[in-house]
Amino acid sequence: DGDVYKFYADGEWKKSDSGKFVPIINPTTRNTHFKVQACSQEEVNKIIETAKSAQKSWAKTPLWKRAELLHKAAAILKEHRAPIAECLVKEIAKPAKDAVTEVVRSGDLVSYCAEEGVRILGEGKFLVSDSFPGNERTKYCLTSKIPLGVVLAIPPFNYPVNLAVSKIAPALIAGNSLVLKPPTQGAVAALHMVHCFHLAGFPKGLMSCITGKGSEIGDFLTMHPGVNCISFTGGDTGIAISKRASMIPLQMELGGKDACIILEDSDLDLAAANIVKGGFSYSGQRCTAVKVVLVMESVADTLVEKVKTKLAKLTVGPPEDDCDITPVITESSANFIEGLVMDAKQKGATFCQEYKREGNLIWPLLLDHVRPDMRIAWEEPFGPVLPVLRINSAEEGINHCNASNFGLQGCVFTRDINKAILISDAMETGTVQINSAPARGPDHFPFQGLKDSGIGSQGITNSINMMTKIKSTVINLP
Ligand code: G3H
Repeated sequence: DGDVYKFYADGEWKKSDSGKFVPIINPTTRNTHFKVQACSQEEVNKIIETAKSAQKSWAKTPLWKRAELLHKAAAILKEHRAPIAECLVKEIAKPAKDAVTEVVRSGDLVSYCAEEGVRILGEGKFLVSDSFPGNERTKYCLTSKIPLGVVLAIPPFNYPVNLAVSKIAPALIAGNSLVLKPPTQGAVAALHMVHCFHLAGFPKGLMSCITGKGSEIGDFLTMHPGVNCISFTGGDTGIAISKRASMIPLQMELGGKDACIILEDSDLDLAAANIVKGGFSYSGQRCTAVKVVLVMESVADTLVEKVKTKLAKLTVGPPEDDCDITPVITESSANFIEGLVMDAKQKGATFCQEYKREGNLIWPLLLDHVRPDMRIAWEEPFGPVLPVLRINSAEEGINHCNASNFGLQGCVFTRDINKAILISDAMETGTVQINSAPARGPDHFPFQGLKDSGIGSQGITNSINMMTKIKSTVINLP
């Protein structure tokens, strides 16, 4: 079956022995656009075995050489931006320009990671024993950072390239090998990205990309005894993975219900612009999207009007036309979003626009006067639908934010920096943005979620450190 994309193992492109494939549905046409191999558990076993042995010699490869290969891969990735972006448009309905941005951002991330890696992995510590009570100066301790072994990377559909390289590059620079399990939608973009690493000339087997059904190889991969570290971005599956994983370091970035608190003294034009950008870019399908607006009653009418005016200017349609709002990832996702909208309708929310849906395409919708008994006040739609709750004090906003089981990011709009800092301290989230929408980037910033939003911290430096372990050698003097 020639039109099924091959998977990547042992430095080669291969067909699965299973003879089966997984269809990739284009969210816009809702037809099968690509097919990828449905790999088997035996193929997973082989890949992990190869990754294990390739890692041993990679760890001994000079750091500057590892960095050189990553810089090469970054440059090739940027050269291939057009075809990769084209896949993102077809597989995940990412607007055409954003798709190109994702690939370019990824190239930059890989280069930055190579540079950061040679700095932070190029130095260790030297400790002497006599600083601890009762000790003479008879022990010298040398520390360095050593790789963990085989890193399993599982990125989500919304950034199949960028959130793959944000795991691949730190793993490789630190001397690990890497097994990538891309999301089904976005798998071909990911395979193309992997091809760029292949062209850069990494050793055989060091990096592999396995495609297939989660039901067949998902648990098998995440519970595999040969895996030494898992870096996962996605939804609830992450919680299940962490419960089942063995004693290995985990990096998890899961959902969010990022709150946007708007005080009376804020610049409402700035706030409205950020609500539209933060809530509706890539149709709200970002873990860092603004997912609930908590606005002081006294300025709520003005704010809602401003947001409405801006929403009316968004273009809605196919990603090929670079529309702002494009079809959401799957029909079941659209149905879920619709369920939240209907629940809010039944419970009396004010619809600022008419609810409109065609297939997976949902028109941008702002729901005003949302109350805490509505599901949308707490659940993440992952779609272009945003609830507004009116509050009477900053505390009320903070309390709503902290009552969520998520704690990824949040933001506060005010001209009073002292208040902003106090609110930031009070919000139980991994990051608080003052006077801007939540966002992960720039990609070297720390990125982390509290509670159900994640485990550990990402960002280039944190990821490199997370994918290494400290090794000490102690010299004992007579
Ligand atoms: O979807 C989760 C991503 O980590 C968010 O990244 O803030 O760059 O859109 P972003």
